[in-house]
Amino acid sequence: MQALIVDDNATNIALLQCLIAKIDHCQSIGFTDPSEALQRLPELDFDIALVDFVMPKVDGLELVRAIRALPRHAHVPIVMITTAEDRDVRIETLTAGANDFLAKPIDPVELRARVVNLLALRKAQQKLEQRAGFLEVEIDKALKVLVEREEEIVWRLSRATEGRDPETGGHIRRMGLTCRILAEELGLDADICRAIPVAAQMHDIGKVGIPDNILFKPGPLTPEERAVMQTHAMLGEEILSGSDALLVRIGAEIAGSHHEHWNGKGYPRGLAGEAIPIPGRIAAVADVFDALISERPYKRAWTLEAARDYVVSERGRQFDPACVDAFLRRYDEIVNLEAPASATPRAARPTAA
Ligand SMILES: [Fe+2]
Ligand SMILES: [Fe+2]
Repeated sequence: MQALIVDDNATNIALLQCLIAKIDHCQSIGFTDPSEALQRLPELDFDIALVDFVMPKVDGLELVRAIRALPRHAHVPIVMITTAEDRDVRIETLTAGANDFLAKPIDPVELRARVVNLLALRKAQQKLEQRAGFLEVEIDKALKVLVEREEEIVWRLSRATEGRDPETGGHIRRMGLTCRILAEELGLDADICRAIPVAAQMHDIGKVGIPDNILFKPGPLTPEERAVMQTHAMLGEEILSGSDALLVRIGAEIAGSHHEHWNGKGYPRGLAGEAIPIPGRIAAVADVFDALISERPYKRAWTLEAARDYVVSERGRQFDPACVDAFLRRYDEIVNLEAPASATPRAARPTAA
């Protein structure tokens, strides 16, 4: 342990250093010039400070305030050495941050007892700080594991409803990441940007209620089948509604609105413009673009250029213009996410539900 001693009288410093040296594992550094001590405070390491009250230029009170003002010394015990019996001086000193007093002339036995006690407190305090730091790291690690598990569970559940084709697992993951890029580009809150890549993966969770003969039909749907297929949006919203968790709340919004069109011609509610929740407007662009460049039972994969052109052509019609602009600004990043394995350079018409 290290003691800082500041006293303008060199003889006093020598005496104090000698007494401190007799305490186990304790060393000291002394300053006769309080200005120098003040100047070097930010770089000094010490576990207790012994400060003389009456000094020229910088008095003990000023030094105590300066020590307390530095975060690294905020909790170091400070002993004020004074001849003053004045109650007001003592209160002012305590208010400034000193912990204890020593009267001049110094009584070696009393000094030793006070310093040993304060150093024991300092050690306990340091142990607590270390423990708190350790716990903080452990909590961060545990939270990270929880978030990863949450993301994995959502991904696996969403994938289960997307179909049996392994490619669709890639679709929902890429689509979620595209949503995050768009949300960031549009300046959405950090909490939403963090939640949206996972929440968006549940966009088609309502397909769990769609009969297999419609969900996996390897060709165009009849109008009746299409109507059944379109119920997946409301079904998904119902499955996810009523949660307090932001992740699930955004998931419900996306599930219920990812097929709405900016011009009001989408489903299930026919919402238009900003009446469509922003996560849903973002998910619409991300979902359609990735579905177009992916191969599906009912269609071949589009080229990147054809899919991009389609998104641009639907600016202000199917899609929110701001989302399309954000998509174009971050296009290079989006197409580099991880190309779908089945993508082919051949173009075809979109038929995604
Ligand atoms: Fe959908
Ligand atoms: Fe999708």
